[in-house]
Amino acid sequence: MSNAALDAIFARRSNRAYTAQKVDDETITLLAKAALAAPSGSNAQPVNVIVVQNVPLILEMEKAVVDYFIRAGDESVVERIKKRNNKIFYDASTVFFLAVKNKAAVDVGIMSENLAIAATSLGLANIILGLPGVVFNDPATTAYWKEKLHFPEGYEYGLAVAVGYAADEGKPHDIDLEKLSYIR
Ligand SMILES: Cc1cc2nc3c(=O)[nH]c(=O)nc-3n(C[C@H](O)[C@H](O)[C@H](O)COP(=O)(O)O)c2cc1C
Repeated sequence: MSNAALDAIFARRSNRAYTAQKVDDETITLLAKAALAAPSGSNAQPVNVIVVQNVPLILEMEKAVVDYFIRAGDESVVERIKKRNNKIFYDASTVFFLAVKNKAAVDVGIMSENLAIAATSLGLANIILGLPGVVFNDPATTAYWKEKLHFPEGYEYGLAVAVGYAADEGKPHDIDLEKLSYIR
């Protein structure tokens, strides 16, 4: 059976290297709308989408995230990031930041997957990112980054989704059917 939604779901994977090629504005707007089409509890729509394409700003945040883990002495994360050349956003040309109110983490997660599937369906590389959240949650840097990204009052970092053109190779993870059961 061929089905566009299922094809995108099964093709999606996390891309960790991007070319410098920009995604056109029309496509970015379409992706943002796909994000905002996500369902939310009681239709509260608690997530704001902030599209960042300012490369120096993305690189500044990348360094701040790496510095956070070094300062925190979190060796395992520092090592993991080092193996990825200290990349947090992997040179993606666009990052969608999902700012959320009322701790609606589930709604953020659902929205991030909408974005990931929509991007995949358009042939775009993407990755959902939790790590950047450290600079929004660290009391030493939270005000700075919320201001830089124009978070509305009362909004917190939810997730980010980087989107662009793939510069890596890979394949979707294996599906573990051990995690499937039926009660009939
Ligand atoms: C909520 C969430 C947060 C994630 N945060 C990061 C991150 O900060 N950095 C990263 O490289 N990958 C991140 N990932 C990607 C996961 O590592 C990835 O989804 C997982 O390894 C499975 O691989 P796949 O996405 O290719 O199927 C995140 C994924 C999710 C769902």
